[in-house]
Amino acid sequence: MLGSEANLICSEEDLEMLSLLPPLDGLHVLELGAGISPFTEKIADSAARVTTVDCANMFFAKKLSKMENMRNVEHLQADVTKLDFPKTKFDLIISSFQFMHLEDEELKALTACLIRWLRPGGHLFFHEFCSRQPDSTSSQKTYRKQADYNRFMQETTEGLNCEAETMHGFDLVFSKCMNLKHKEERLHFCWLLKKVIRTGNNCSLEEFLEKERFSRRKISHIEWMYGQGFLSAGGLDTTQELMSLLNLKPGEKVLDIGCGIGGPALYMAKAYGVEVLGIDLCLCAIEIAQNRLMEKNVPKVQFELCDATMREFPENSFDVVYSKESILYILDKLSLFQKLHRWLKPTGRFLILDYCSGEQPMSEDFQKFVNSTGFQLLAVPSFTKYLETAGFADVHVTDYTPQFVKHLKNELMHVKKNKEEFIKNFSKQEYDDNINVWKGKIQECEAGGLTQGLFQGTKRAVNNSVLCDDNIL
Ligand SMILES: C[S@@+](CC[C@H](N)C(=O)[O-])C[C@H]1O[C@@H](n2cnc3c(N)ncnc32)[C@H](O)[C@@H]1O
Repeated sequence: MLGSEANLICSEEDLEMLSLLPPLDGLHVLELGAGISPFTEKIADSAARVTTVDCANMFFAKKLSKMENMRNVEHLQADVTKLDFPKTKFDLIISSFQFMHLEDEELKALTACLIRWLRPGGHLFFHEFCSRQPDSTSSQKTYRKQADYNRFMQETTEGLNCEAETMHGFDLVFSKCMNLKHKEERLHFCWLLKKVIRTGNNCSLEEFLEKERFSRRKISHIEWMYGQGFLSAGGLDTTQELMSLLNLKPGEKVLDIGCGIGGPALYMAKAYGVEVLGIDLCLCAIEIAQNRLMEKNVPKVQFELCDATMREFPENSFDVVYSKESILYILDKLSLFQKLHRWLKPTGRFLILDYCSGEQPMSEDFQKFVNSTGFQLLAVPSFTKYLETAGFADVHVTDYTPQFVKHLKNELMHVKKNKEEFIKNFSKQEYDDNINVWKGKIQECEAGGLTQGLFQGTKRAVNNSVLCDDNIL
């Protein structure tokens, strides 16, 4: 099937992909496109059962001879579009380069089958070559864009054939590019999705961020305000100031939560020689970050599309967790902080700069703005308490509001001074909207209804974080 393309995947990428799979112990795994998959033998070592499928005899024959002693592996030679399995039969489905051989309608039908064959809570992991350009197709293969697969997976649901049935769909756990650094013509992406119950037409946070808060157009004018690469107040200046507080050392591993369009991660990697994984739930932002990374060719930076609250990393994965103006979108901050605590190495440290509600009640107008943005604001003492409850020691809090206001005022002055240029690039309406938002934030900070808290701390060597929930707030 793929010949030379399959060879592009080096073993380093295979190993990385394997590390991204959910724990396999005791699982029944279905593997599509198993003939060229790098996974089967490794999966069979841990999983309870593996059902492998491939339509090409040539690839399969080679594989079968290598695996004839594995009693927990069952092989099927079949066309994936003609498969039929009982409902909820599998815990995990893995697909290697199958979808690019399917027309859109075939992919839609297969996706619905995959949802049906998985048990609730089960996972789909797939990897594909994608195109850098839209609509780049060849006669037998469709090189879709990362966004196209996201759309398919988000839109397809299964169930409701009768009233008693529950509707299921996929939630994104993550999607990431495996080979940005190789500069190949085709990009190698992988996805992990989870089968969940769909309750009608409620808009997910991912859709809200994508359509309302950080559409491509909105990102362009926010970036115009903050400076290239940044979606938060103070742009490069604040980022440089915050990084200088982190005492970063070359080779350290940093997780940037809500990395936006990648400016902070690229700066950190270049200035300090650290390895950075930037994660963000907004596809537009991640696509821009990936493009900038390719242009700038900064080693040791990766960007991943995922919801920080859904993602899991092994314990002790990072030296540093950094997050600027992103956690304000997350409701269950305590669960996130508990994860951060797990993911950090024993001496790991964190730095979070975030919007918080102030000591004074919020004005009605600003409350309306907050409701429309989806901000989930906590007061500084509650934010701090959650960090401590999650196990962090010596949480150090600085009121960053004066610097925040100073930057907002500079940005407001800059846009007013360059009004014509802004309107030429965007519109009068967007100019007015930005002026109102910036003014609103400044006024609210000055009236005490909004603050910015800078939170820093380290992971405790001994975990004495057991505080009951009643003690919070
Ligand atoms: C104001 S921007 C800040 C971006 C970046 N930190 C910077 O300083 O330029 C907030 C970012 O948080 C991301 N975000 C919000 N909720 C998230 C979640 N649950 N998981 C990952 N990212 C999230 C948004 O998509 C957005 O890109």
